[in-house]
Amino acid sequence: MKIAPSLLSADFSKIRDQMEAVERAGADYMHIDVMDGRFVPNITWGPKIVKDLRKLTKVPLDTHLMIVEPERYVADFAEAGSDIITVHWEATVHANRLIHQIKEHGVRAGLSLNPATPLNVLEEILPYIDLLLIMSVNPGFGGQSYIATSTAKLAAARELIDRRKCKVELEVDGGVHLDNVVEVARTGVDTIVMGSAIFGTPQPGETLARVRALCAR
Ligand code: DX5
Ligand code: ZN
Repeated sequence: MKIAPSLLSADFSKIRDQMEAVERAGADYMHIDVMDGRFVPNITWGPKIVKDLRKLTKVPLDTHLMIVEPERYVADFAEAGSDIITVHWEATVHANRLIHQIKEHGVRAGLSLNPATPLNVLEEILPYIDLLLIMSVNPGFGGQSYIATSTAKLAAARELIDRRKCKVELEVDGGVHLDNVVEVARTGVDTIVMGSAIFGTPQPGETLARVRALCAR
């Protein structure tokens, strides 16, 4: 199972140290939340920050676009050094075109579903995506509570991916902490994003190691 610390909850005044700590502890991705104040109520950062973060680590950059009209910015985030670009199904009327647009840049293409969006919207798009991101909070902020129905949704997504024999990585994002990470891991999810649970602690690297130990049991 992969762990993707979300930099949204990191302290950017010491971002180099924070990234080094989780990298040393074996972070599989750096999860970068891009928010535009329109698709979600919060604003974070753009391609310039991704480009600068790229210089600080060799760990793959997992860029999560929570923005309207994502097709306008795919090239910029690809050129900034993203390894994965995930867009929201709810943010586009042409998901198929958008997924191909991402892949044309040599970047892995992810599709994210909000908590209220059912899995059946994946019917036609599943074979074309590299990653499925299930939101287990309403996107926009770190530190929110895990939405309980996400566990069954994740298990159903696992079953769907396996039944359709698609090479799709299953990722979950939001509200995962030490007290529910085992429940989430048991759904068969491939990758868990964790923001406040990791960077909200004084030793993010040690916390990441604790998460691994818990899930390995
Ligand atoms: C929420 C973001 C998440 C966020 C998760 O909109 O997509 O990546 O950082 O934070 P936690 O793990 O604190 O819920
Ligand atoms: Zn995210």
